[in-house]
Amino acid sequence: MITKRMEKALNAQINKEFYSAYLYLSISAYCNKLGMPGCEHWFRIQHDEEIIHMTKMFDYVMQHGGEARLFKIDEPPADFGSVLGAFETSRQHERFITESINELLNVAVEEKDHATQVFLQWFITEQVEEEANVKEIVDRLKMAGDNGGALMMIDDKLSQRPPPAPATTIV
Ligand SMILES: [Fe+2]
Ligand SMILES: [Fe+2]
Repeated sequence: MITKRMEKALNAQINKEFYSAYLYLSISAYCNKLGMPGCEHWFRIQHDEEIIHMTKMFDYVMQHGGEARLFKIDEPPADFGSVLGAFETSRQHERFITESINELLNVAVEEKDHATQVFLQWFITEQVEEEANVKEIVDRLKMAGDNGGALMMIDDKLSQRPPPAPATTIV
């Protein structure tokens, strides 16, 4: 059974995962506008992953005797300046989410909630991966600069991203 404080913190994170999905869906629309279908696809998959994160937390709260709550989702930006700007936005956002997950784990430790500490380990690992993936793309885009051929190659590579594994709640 999760405490009220833990429940509140997890519900706040559910909203942040929804916002992440919203932000990435908006970026995918922006990439569509730029005529970069690979980037559009990559962010669409990124959106799908965030929905999975949200679902995992939503289910976890209910499975552990809490009340899952849904709040208003903020409007994401629609213009990111450039494709590099779009990925830089994603990178900054993932850093913010990592901080947020770390803070959630601190709450679980303070609440002596061992099950939630185990549950959050998955998210900790996921954030390391997310940050590394997006950093790699940002680095490549910086190297490509204004080189149309190089940008097309990156876009083509990103079009090969496979769909995410379906949501499972382990704990
Ligand atoms: Fe997430
Ligand atoms: Fe993410």
